[in-house]
Amino acid sequence: MGDFVDISPQRAGPGVLQHLKPGEVLSLDISWPSEADPPPACRRSDLIRKNTIMSTVPVRPAKPFAPYLGGKSKLSNVIIRRIAGIEHDLYAEVFVGMGGVFLRRSLRPKAEVINDYNYEVANVFRVLEHHYLALMKLMKFKLTTRREFERLCKIDPGTLTDLQRAARFIYLQRTAFGGKVSGQSFGVAPSRSARFDITRLGTLLEEVHERLAGVVIECLNFSDFIERYDTETTLFYLDPPYFGGETDYGKGLFCRSDYAKLASQLSALKGNFILSINDRPEIRKVFSQFEFEQHEVTYSVGLKTADKYPELLVYGGNSLTKDRWEAITEKQGGLF
Ligand SMILES: C[S@@+](CC[C@H](N)C(=O)[O-])C[C@H]1O[C@@H](n2cnc3c(N)ncnc32)[C@H](O)[C@@H]1O
Repeated sequence: MGDFVDISPQRAGPGVLQHLKPGEVLSLDISWPSEADPPPACRRSDLIRKNTIMSTVPVRPAKPFAPYLGGKSKLSNVIIRRIAGIEHDLYAEVFVGMGGVFLRRSLRPKAEVINDYNYEVANVFRVLEHHYLALMKLMKFKLTTRREFERLCKIDPGTLTDLQRAARFIYLQRTAFGGKVSGQSFGVAPSRSARFDITRLGTLLEEVHERLAGVVIECLNFSDFIERYDTETTLFYLDPPYFGGETDYGKGLFCRSDYAKLASQLSALKGNFILSINDRPEIRKVFSQFEFEQHEVTYSVGLKTADKYPELLVYGGNSLTKDRWEAITEKQGGLF
């Protein structure tokens, strides 16, 4: 028999409360990580700064629940501040991955939509939004073992239900070396604890579940997504695969000629956009009609020593002019 817990308004977070009728108490056969300290609630006064657009409202930030190749952990800080400085009613993230930017934002506008053409990614967010309790129940006895990692790697995800598929994706993504998405290998380091620890992971997943309330999740190719959600008040954030790493997320998703296709579509946008990418001469050429802000970010993979890499923020659209951007960056400053 598993662990039973009462989920009542006193014990549960708001993500659970929304499923309960007033006064209702649920008893579930599930290990619920409710004892962990929740992150401090956001106070509106903490979040309203000179630069913040008032049509957005405070929201509790969350952390990505698994490492992800190309995840924006380092640059997210500056990207989020730039986003907060630009007026928008719809935030539309085209290549969301594990949500390194989306989840860390502490303000949200009227509407939000996230997208990833990789079915595993879109599916895991959908399951977290709608079937969170069932997912936790499925994963609660999982331990970090090389055998389980190898067993799950061999399974064709197309043969699984969406719930099983989400659990498999989370397990592999947590335990794979370097947050790799394809060609994964089992990641171990003598100095760190097991990568799949449901007692710690549960808290992260609950926060993501709560953050996803009201968010639309799409699984479209970038061009269809942009076409569908482009309005005068849309702000797109785009984090496409790095130049040179177009196939890092699986075959047939993205190819080198897609950068030019993207640039052409962005040049006719009704809304505004911010795009982050590695700073390469080929990228500067493809996006030469737009403005750039340059950064240097330090990354290390596994035990490899940290290296510095140049990154670009590309921006543009109907009202995101160089003057407007400079006014925003002057007030906000650089990376930290
Ligand atoms: C650099 S990663 C995004 C990382 C994300 N910003 C984060 O912090 O986790 C690029 C993402 O684009 C997705 N992708 C690749 N080709 C795509 C396409 N044609 N349309 C939409 N998404 C695509 C990949 O599945 C991957 O998740």
